[in-house]
Amino acid sequence: MSSARKQAPPELAAVAGEAVRHLEWLRDAGVAEVPVPGRPPPSPTATRTPTTAGAPPSSTAPSPASVGAPSRYALADKGCGSPELLAVRERLGECTRCNLAGGRKKMVFGVGNPRAELMFVGEGPGGDEDLQGEPFVGRAGQLLTRMIEAMGFARSEVYIANVVKCRPPENRDPQPDEIEACEPFLKAQIDAIRPRVIVALGRFAVQTLLRDGSPIGRQRGRWREYQGVRCMPTFHPAYLLRSPDEKGKAWEDLKLVMREFGKEPRQGRP
Ligand code: URA
Repeated sequence: MSSARKQAPPELAAVAGEAVRHLEWLRDAGVAEVPVPGRPPPSPTATRTPTTAGAPPSSTAPSPASVGAPSRYALADKGCGSPELLAVRERLGECTRCNLAGGRKKMVFGVGNPRAELMFVGEGPGGDEDLQGEPFVGRAGQLLTRMIEAMGFARSEVYIANVVKCRPPENRDPQPDEIEACEPFLKAQIDAIRPRVIVALGRFAVQTLLRDGSPIGRQRGRWREYQGVRCMPTFHPAYLLRSPDEKGKAWEDLKLVMREFGKEPRQGRP
């Protein structure tokens, strides 16, 4: 019998090459071990099984979060502080699902407490957010932070995310296909956090979460529900910067939220 190794048939070589590329992708994503079907999971440190739903599976591979392995996103992105959120971030990956991918500097996933009882949802990153990879850090963000603090919360206690995770060019409105591509990930973030209350900031957050296109001025200040979570629509902080006379109405809305948490509004407003 010849000792020469037999050449694999081309179709097998293609499958093997694909498997190697897949394993390299997992390694680059920080996966240290891959579970083998029929054997117990290799890592006893694996935590809660992700319960997030709604995001389209980009791969059938286990997420690094589910095998307890380190992930680049855990370090790089601020809003991934639980296995469930990290799993969402992993699924989002280096997203190219819509045109916004081409213009972004940094993806802006979210920020804050992964077990927050109070969550804020805005529209999409602006220039400052795109540079820093964190939502609401520009002028509108500073106002939002003051609003959160006036409500008796620290910014780090709540969770903040946007409808779209990448900056629309020139800060234009996010387009329907862009919102549609990103929405499963917002939904999955909300599923992962399960807040008691969501504050929907402005037209796009309200339209996306509540499927209601009526003017924000008519929707604000009335409790609604998003998949079993109480939701309060209010004005976007960027709008309040342009129309400071409307701040009083937004503060009325936020006081309703405070009462939900048993917090007594102080005199004055942010
Ligand atoms: N406006 C938003 O809607 N989100 C941000 O992150 C910043 C400004």
